[in-house]
Amino acid sequence: MGLKDLSAGESLFKNEDSLDPEWLPKNLPFREEQHHGIANCIKPLLQGRTGRNCIISGAPGIGKTAAVKLVLKELEENPDVNAPDIEVLYVNCWQKNTTYKIFADLCEQLGYKFIQNKNTEDLFKIIQNIINKKSAVFAFDEVDKVEDVDFLYHIFTDILKKTILMITNHPQWYSLVDERIRSRLMPEKIDFQPYSTEEIAGILRHRIEFAFSPNRWEDSALNLIVDKTITAGDIRAGLHLLREAGLAAEDQSSRKILPEHAEKALAKLSDFSIKPAEALGEDTKVILNLVKAQSGRIGDLFKIYQEQGGTATYKTFQRRIETLEKGGFIETKKIMGGKEGTTTFVADKNKSLDEF
Ligand SMILES: Nc1ncnc2c1ncn2[C@@H]1O[C@H](COP(=O)(O)OP(=O)(O)O)[C@@H](O)[C@H]1O
Ligand SMILES: [Mg+2]
Repeated sequence: MGLKDLSAGESLFKNEDSLDPEWLPKNLPFREEQHHGIANCIKPLLQGRTGRNCIISGAPGIGKTAAVKLVLKELEENPDVNAPDIEVLYVNCWQKNTTYKIFADLCEQLGYKFIQNKNTEDLFKIIQNIINKKSAVFAFDEVDKVEDVDFLYHIFTDILKKTILMITNHPQWYSLVDERIRSRLMPEKIDFQPYSTEEIAGILRHRIEFAFSPNRWEDSALNLIVDKTITAGDIRAGLHLLREAGLAAEDQSSRKILPEHAEKALAKLSDFSIKPAEALGEDTKVILNLVKAQSGRIGDLFKIYQEQGGTATYKTFQRRIETLEKGGFIETKKIMGGKEGTTTFVADKNKSLDEF
């Protein structure tokens, strides 16, 4: 089939972009309470006072980032004429994982471009100068990925009026942050509990109305995808499946999305983040079994792996641990500044990391 044939059929999609994980819906059903809680932490800033800090936690793909971004968007789009000027700052700490990188990013967001040759302290002075004339909301997403927490200390001590939002999939992370910082920040806690079956179905049905032209989905096809999303517990997986099924139907020039198209999408999901264990490489499976048998420091686990005849280098071993974490098979937790410097603890995902 040539490209010409493709343009002939009408698309099943109305707004395919709305299936992107980054796409922000206008509101988040079933997260009203959390939305409210986050907004409440910021409210004092609107009255010219300092705000409250907050740690937002819950499993991946259940609306934490979306809820925070919605509150931030409201703040930017509906400035109250009487409200003081508030800077809205969002940093993804997966990408910016050191105090220096975070400060450089904040400078850029604040419109300050001359960051070359400046050290961390210089950058913070710039931030302080700009923000202390007004106030700011800082959102640090995936905050458990940071290598150091100096930025929290600096912001807490030297920015006058602020709300610090910390978002994480691993609430245990915060209990390991330096006591001096914890005793100052005293964040409120907002928990995101997993969605119920009905909630997941509701969210996906609602998204379909945005994404597809009317009456394209056969109920039984949608049910297959809802079921899989419930097992995965991650709305992102559902959105990905909706798109893949739509594309599979278009490939066959079908006017409706049928169970066979949903099945195709499900079969492809193994290439996505939620891999079945069978899809893992042999050596990665060996490492998974090792972690299942025993939690511990990554260095210690590597020793056991070698004793049992494993031949991969330490770097490769680390990479496989990362793959297993991304696939949701195991959990890891970084512990900063202990006697041995930063160490990573690794555990089977059904075991708690709290003991470390
Ligand atoms: N209640 C909801 N209503 C509509 N979409 C949602 C809802 N919860 C999550 N989503 C969507 O699911 C995807 C994953 O949510 P996200 O906020 O990125 O998860 P998290 O940050 O918790 O990992 C996003 O595309 C988001 O828009
Ligand atoms: Mg997120």
